[in-house]
Amino acid sequence: MNNYPDSFTWELHFPPNEDGHGQEWLMELSKMRGRVLHAGGRRPQFRQTDGSFSDHDPLDQWAYHLLLRSSGCLIGCIRVVPLSVQICGTESLLGHQRFEQLLVHLGTTRDRVGEVGRWIVAPEYSRFRMGLPLIAGLGALAKWLGLETLIATVGTRDGQAKTLMRAGGRQVPGFVPIKCQKYDDDLVVLTFDLLHPAESFEPFAVEMAARLSLDEQNEARELPYGFPMQMTRPRDWASGNDVCAGSVVLKA
Ligand SMILES: CC(C)(COP(=O)(O)OP(=O)(O)OC[C@H]1O[C@@H](n2cnc3c(N)ncnc32)[C@H](O)[C@@H]1OP(=O)(O)O)[C@@H](O)C(=O)NCCC(=O)NCCS
Repeated sequence: MNNYPDSFTWELHFPPNEDGHGQEWLMELSKMRGRVLHAGGRRPQFRQTDGSFSDHDPLDQWAYHLLLRSSGCLIGCIRVVPLSVQICGTESLLGHQRFEQLLVHLGTTRDRVGEVGRWIVAPEYSRFRMGLPLIAGLGALAKWLGLETLIATVGTRDGQAKTLMRAGGRQVPGFVPIKCQKYDDDLVVLTFDLLHPAESFEPFAVEMAARLSLDEQNEARELPYGFPMQMTRPRDWASGNDVCAGSVVLKA
């Protein structure tokens, strides 16, 4: 995988649930995502009347978040929402019936599926090509959580879907692109088989699993709320300097 500066650190957050509103990292995340998604005015709804950027999304409360920082500054993110706990964005978009048909087509059930979303890198850092490590890290995290399939609704106009298809994403037959005003994009639904990843992608996921200490010896276990959540922190997390409740900071 690409080499990136030592000043880059990875951070993993477990679902903040309902009381997450006051959490500083969540507010920072909303601001960073809002700024990137606003894209200089392309998506005006991500800017508030006071001029600040915001991407407040209730699904954040149910998601596992992987964040990337450069010298402490938030520069990238991605998240996964286990479908066993929440109706995801793709289901809202397709409607319940079509979404159920999709699960049948995939031969799976909600408890084994997660929705990946908010894959974002701040444009000032695009030269470091951190998009792929973010996807690979998310894949490793999802697998560690016991998920087998990922679903994503992604834009096509900036080549995002193409990149994700190179990383193993597959388009669902019969699902045509959906025009979406909010994102000023044509959205497609992609699925990822975590048990049979694309050959060229697997080494990246393995490397990120090691980097994030998400290995098989340290499996996620079933916990309350009906979704898998970690029982024990991954090997090196407990010794990290900046560990706080529900989150872990890892050196690059
Ligand atoms: C989408 C986004 C996160 C991508 O970030 P990025 O830093 O530009 O990503 P990268 O440069 O690492 O691009 C990923 C690269 O990995 C490559 N890649 C993917 N799978 C690969 C594989 N298995 N083997 C080798 N390379 C692979 C891709 O082809 C791409 O390279 P290319 O641009 O030369 O084709 C970023 O552009 C962004 O934040 N966009 C705005 C928000 C957005 O649209 N998010 C997506 C929502 S669907």
